[in-house]
Amino acid sequence: MTAREALLFGGRLLGGGRGREVALILAGACAWPVERLFLEPSRPLEPVAWERYRDNLKKRFAGVPLQYLLGEAGFWSLSLRVDPRVLVPRPETETLVETVLELADGLERPRIADVGTGSGCIGLALAVELPHARIHATDVSADALAVARENAAACGATNVFFHRGDLLAALPDEIKLNFLVSNPPYVATGDLPGLPPEVRAEPRLALDGGGDGLYFYRRLLADGVDRVRPGGLAVLELGFGQGPAVRELARGTPWRPLPFRDDLAGIERVAVFRREP
Ligand SMILES: C[S@@+](CC[C@H](N)C(=O)[O-])C[C@H]1O[C@@H](n2cnc3c(N)ncnc32)[C@H](O)[C@@H]1O
Repeated sequence: MTAREALLFGGRLLGGGRGREVALILAGACAWPVERLFLEPSRPLEPVAWERYRDNLKKRFAGVPLQYLLGEAGFWSLSLRVDPRVLVPRPETETLVETVLELADGLERPRIADVGTGSGCIGLALAVELPHARIHATDVSADALAVARENAAACGATNVFFHRGDLLAALPDEIKLNFLVSNPPYVATGDLPGLPPEVRAEPRLALDGGGDGLYFYRRLLADGVDRVRPGGLAVLELGFGQGPAVRELARGTPWRPLPFRDDLAGIERVAVFRREP
């Protein structure tokens, strides 16, 4: 079986328009740079690479995310290791990172919590951009933290500190924050079975936002009052259409809404609140 034949085989199996995915899966299975498939189309595959390739094509066909099969995902300027222990970082989450960077501009040594860090994508992007910040990344999942720690080592980030535990309770009491940042699980429990297979392949713990999808916003805003310094900010990623409900959660609390941000698709994506004194 040559590289060209294998590409044709994969294209037939996955269907039209997915040539790039097929090439990435094949290159990954062969441990070749993807260009080699096109520069040396007659090159034969090792039997073990062919087997790995067929296996990964079947998994992809069944809905396993491409990034899990490749073992990596691009986020911000980083290439991160990902596997089924963590959510695949989404491009819209970069809007959250951009928002924090804009709001942190001029602060000398901001203390930032990335609650529910998963792969570490948010905390690590902030750590790379804000080398003088101290980033505290938390997750309740020991599996996710193992992946995040590996990613931190690969990025050479030395200003990220990992804590395992339930939301902000994971942090030592003395840590007071300038920024509470989170992309929490926000899918309503009843909507989980209707998600596409690719999303259902991700950890349920990373998706399930309780009966109305707002469980984690309620808790983060309530617990954050004592954790975030007066004048500090909460910057939270939103699911589709959740902005008004999350704004409402802050009514009558010390959290004053600032303008929420849209992602590149024009969807309201990032909630921003200032902690009033
Ligand atoms: C939507 S994922 C976000 C992952 C990553 N920050 C990102 O943006 O791709 C939510 C994360 O919150 C974590 N999580 C769920 N419940 C938690 C809790 N009670 N305390 C801390 N982390 C929690 C999950 O393990 C998961 O890693």
